[in-house]
Amino acid sequence: MLDLGAAPGSWTQFSASRVGPHGLVVAVDLSPMSSRPENAIVYTGDFYEPDVLQSIASHGPYNVLLSDAAPATTGNRSLDTTRSAAIAEHALYLCGTMLCEGGHLVVKIFQGGEEQNLLKEFRRQFRTGRLFKPKACRAESFETYLIGLDYRNS
Ligand SMILES: C[S@@+](CC[C@H](N)C(=O)[O-])C[C@H]1O[C@@H](n2cnc3c(N)ncnc32)[C@H](O)[C@@H]1O
Repeated sequence: MLDLGAAPGSWTQFSASRVGPHGLVVAVDLSPMSSRPENAIVYTGDFYEPDVLQSIASHGPYNVLLSDAAPATTGNRSLDTTRSAAIAEHALYLCGTMLCEGGHLVVKIFQGGEEQNLLKEFRRQFRTGRLFKPKACRAESFETYLIGLDYRNS
């Protein structure tokens, strides 16, 4: 499992418990992680940087790719939304080399920008694509998640 934008680390911890002792979670973030489960490998760096991408690709391809990554917010809603969509697009792009056929992708995106266009793209590249806002998200939060199930990789 690949966890993009993983710090401080609760998704990594949960994922590590789900994949079990024989599974592997690879986590990457600009900031250091607060802890590292035994079955996780952590990279501190930028997931746009070629050397970071090469390191995470060396453990793939992955069955599941998660991205809870978010840009540093500026308070300018339009700018923040555009940057969030760019991260979501990047995660989708990485599937081409890092996600197995039949694999799954979960990506956070700020609402109010590209999410409907990206949803169309998810539905083209995955057998199932949907938007999902977890109950745990605060009502005033403009975060939502794009989910792609069963990657076609073609
Ligand atoms: C909401 S936090 C993630 C929380 C995490 N899922 C957890 O369970 O603790 C978003 C993270 O995305 C990371 N991030 C944003 N852009 C990034 C980039 N280009 N490369 C690596 N990490 C990035 C930020 O550093 C931040 O820690």
